[in-house]
Amino acid sequence: MQNFVFQCATKIIFGRNTENQIGNEVKNYSRKVLLHYGAGSIKRSGLYDKVIKSLQEADIEIFELGGVLANPRLSMVREGISQCHENGIDFILAVGGGSVIDSAKAIAVGVPYDGDVWDFFIRKSTPVRALPLGVILTIPATGSEASKSAVITNEDGWYKRSIGYDLLRPAFAIMNPEFSVTLPPYQTAVGAVDIMSHVMERYFTNVTNVELTDRLCEATLKTVLRNTPLVMQDPEDYNARAEIMWAGTIAHNDLLSTGRIGDFGSHKIEHELSGIYDVAHGVGLAVIFPAWMKYIYKNNVDRFVQFAVRVFDLEIDFEASENTALEGINKLEEFFKSLDLPTHLSELHITDERFEEMASKCTEKGPVGFFTKLYKEDVLNILELAR
Ligand code: NZQ
Ligand code: ZN
Repeated sequence: MQNFVFQCATKIIFGRNTENQIGNEVKNYSRKVLLHYGAGSIKRSGLYDKVIKSLQEADIEIFELGGVLANPRLSMVREGISQCHENGIDFILAVGGGSVIDSAKAIAVGVPYDGDVWDFFIRKSTPVRALPLGVILTIPATGSEASKSAVITNEDGWYKRSIGYDLLRPAFAIMNPEFSVTLPPYQTAVGAVDIMSHVMERYFTNVTNVELTDRLCEATLKTVLRNTPLVMQDPEDYNARAEIMWAGTIAHNDLLSTGRIGDFGSHKIEHELSGIYDVAHGVGLAVIFPAWMKYIYKNNVDRFVQFAVRVFDLEIDFEASENTALEGINKLEEFFKSLDLPTHLSELHITDERFEEMASKCTEKGPVGFFTKLYKEDVLNILELAR
């Protein structure tokens, strides 16, 4: 196990009716907030009205910026920063999914900065301050509610880039699984894939003696594998929704990274895909992750065998353990298919036309991934396998 520092400062407020605490929570930080949200799901579900009521009861002045797109854009981040400057806003409240939260994080870090916020995403500058940020989560998927990262797409060149700093972790996250019952099956499924991918990015490590985190990863994966079909069958199953929502946070708040080095090559490749083609992040992962696994499993067959045995309960083929490793990968792909998700680019009508561009962009700052370092040629091969 490697040395580590783990600090996840986000206060989690979890369960039924917790959204009604929003006014009191925000009051601890500010009397003037920017309420940031997406295209309208929070209005349809009634969450918006509840949030406004609670904030008003707490005497909080509300400024609004709605309309965040899935795969959030830099132009809206800049709009949010200007709105905060013009009105002296010093707290951001994100109500929605990963896209809304990431847009809010970028605003939070951009407001106290004199330059252009994109500087952080191209490593031209390092943030030293951020406005405090609160979250009400409506879709379990990215883990952004407690993660240190934000992912933004710059429309100029369609670069989708991420930053990761502890100061980006939200001060608090309110998570009521009841608000995820309105998710269409498709969004539920892509969320599950993202959660599993966050765990698997950490699981596939070459660091040894990481038994506790291995077991925690396996438990999280098994929980998602068991509960996702339950909510696909019965979207109103509160207990299953709750398991998935909590798994989503645990998957990406870095507890599962302690003492080990994760990979994240698949995420880097996927970000090129959703940056250019605007597909949902989880769909991109359902395509890229199995292809990545097929490409690199030979570099550490034992780890893939452990995955197959412990996560999918497969028997080891002692004479040809590679077969067990491959069977585990197939089981994962079958699971994604059972959620009605594509696992190949052709199903998304994506051809090889821009493979070269994606592979170049992905590796322009050097190889990606730690479990296996991927160079441009490797990324091209993985895209080819995903075809
Ligand atoms: O915009 P609205 O109307 O709210 O609709 C959203 C959106 O269309 C809808 N939705 C959300 N909650 C709902 C709902 N519909 C019905 N009922 C609800 N309760 O779902 C759609 C997708 O929302 P979005 O926020 O885009 O999804 P997600 O949470 O998957 O976020 C994806 C973004 O996060 C990034 C991804 O790359 C992508 O840009 N990621 C962020 C990470 C982080 N910050 O730590 C890590 C991830 O790996 C990921 O890269
Ligand atoms: Zn992800």
